[in-house]
Amino acid sequence: MGLILYIECTKCGAHYSAAEPQNICPNDGGVLYARYDLAALKLEQHFKPVSLVGRAASMWRYREVLPEAEPVSLGEGFTPMLRSQEFPNVYIKDEGLNPTGSFKARGLSAAVTMAKAYGLKKLAIPSAGNAASALAAYAAAAGIEAYLFMPKDVPLANRVECETYGAQVTLVNGLISDCARIVAERKEKEGWFDVSTLKEPFRVEGKKTMGYEVAEQLGWRLPSAIIYPTGGGVGLLGMWKAFEEMEALGWIGPERPRMVGVQSCGCAPIVKAWDEGKATAEFWPDANTLAAGLRVPRAYGDYLILGILKKSGGTAVAVTDDEIMDALDHWARTEGVFAAPEGAAALAAYRKLRASGFFAPDDGVVLFNTGSGLKYLDVIEARKNRSRSAQPAARQIGGIIGPY
Ligand SMILES: Cc1ncc(COP(=O)(O)O)c(C=O)c1O
Ligand SMILES: [Zn+2]
Repeated sequence: MGLILYIECTKCGAHYSAAEPQNICPNDGGVLYARYDLAALKLEQHFKPVSLVGRAASMWRYREVLPEAEPVSLGEGFTPMLRSQEFPNVYIKDEGLNPTGSFKARGLSAAVTMAKAYGLKKLAIPSAGNAASALAAYAAAAGIEAYLFMPKDVPLANRVECETYGAQVTLVNGLISDCARIVAERKEKEGWFDVSTLKEPFRVEGKKTMGYEVAEQLGWRLPSAIIYPTGGGVGLLGMWKAFEEMEALGWIGPERPRMVGVQSCGCAPIVKAWDEGKATAEFWPDANTLAAGLRVPRAYGDYLILGILKKSGGTAVAVTDDEIMDALDHWARTEGVFAAPEGAAALAAYRKLRASGFFAPDDGVVLFNTGSGLKYLDVIEARKNRSRSAQPAARQIGGIIGPY
């Protein structure tokens, strides 16, 4: 497959062929990464930042370091890098502008591109919502069948979107981990290829383009830190992989941003493992948060996420749903950015890390808004109604309800 030399296991280092579809390492279940001939790109093909000038503003502008196949593209990537109005050294990377309203578009564009190249006909995914929407859209564009498994209380937009794209939607009475179990149990019999988070190598490839973009949009200088809302952690791993590739290409030096994972207090397995100094995370029981994409009780790539947080001098932070809602409102009012709750968690984490002294005011920090608030209208309104009805009755005058 073009420039991919091999597919490599991140645990045992075994190599597999990119000529046929791969899921996880058959030896040890390790996450698989695509490896390119970066030395040839650098020395023979002279692939440099200047090579990007004039290319289309989509993630496929980095085509030399993406699988060589005809892209299934809906215009994903190259999202705005907004300078914060409130914090002069903070940037908001607004992934809400992607097709299907979230950064999941990147990973699924790459995965569906390869599924099409391999001739796969049926793809299955367990999802908190946005990955399912993205798969539904790209599968429709590719003429491939999509089988989606989401928790039954998934945000309304995800369900309506997926059905409208013509995907097969199953709502599960449980969490994403229960959805994953159903896919694992049925895939062989049904002939589905499993595109679960980190169970095939190409969603990481799509998500890694966020790392290339951060560097390109900041003039090939990496920020001091990146705050990333972490469920399965694919973007975090992808960006780290991008930085390693860029160093191998000679585009950057050995410097790296401090990588910060933010989770919700209602589901914070990575934060707990980080606080306890562990290299892997335990299953988080009774996961519950309004940030649907952070309701991931077990991250398959936990060992990779925790390794990157450590190597980069980063950290992991948990924020409450109240802090998330407050940050969501605040961003909308001060920046004009209507963020997904997961994205708003990045602002909540930034505030905490400023207060604790982890960040100084002059640290350049990129906050990832991973999705659009428009995908969460029902969730946001329900939350607001709840807090309104919790306000004291004295605020109700003559049938009109505050604010006054
Ligand atoms: C808007 C949003 N942000 C963040 C996440 C977490 O992403 P990841 O699994 O890459 O950590 C999700 C996952 O569903 C999401 O939908
Ligand atoms: Zn392995």
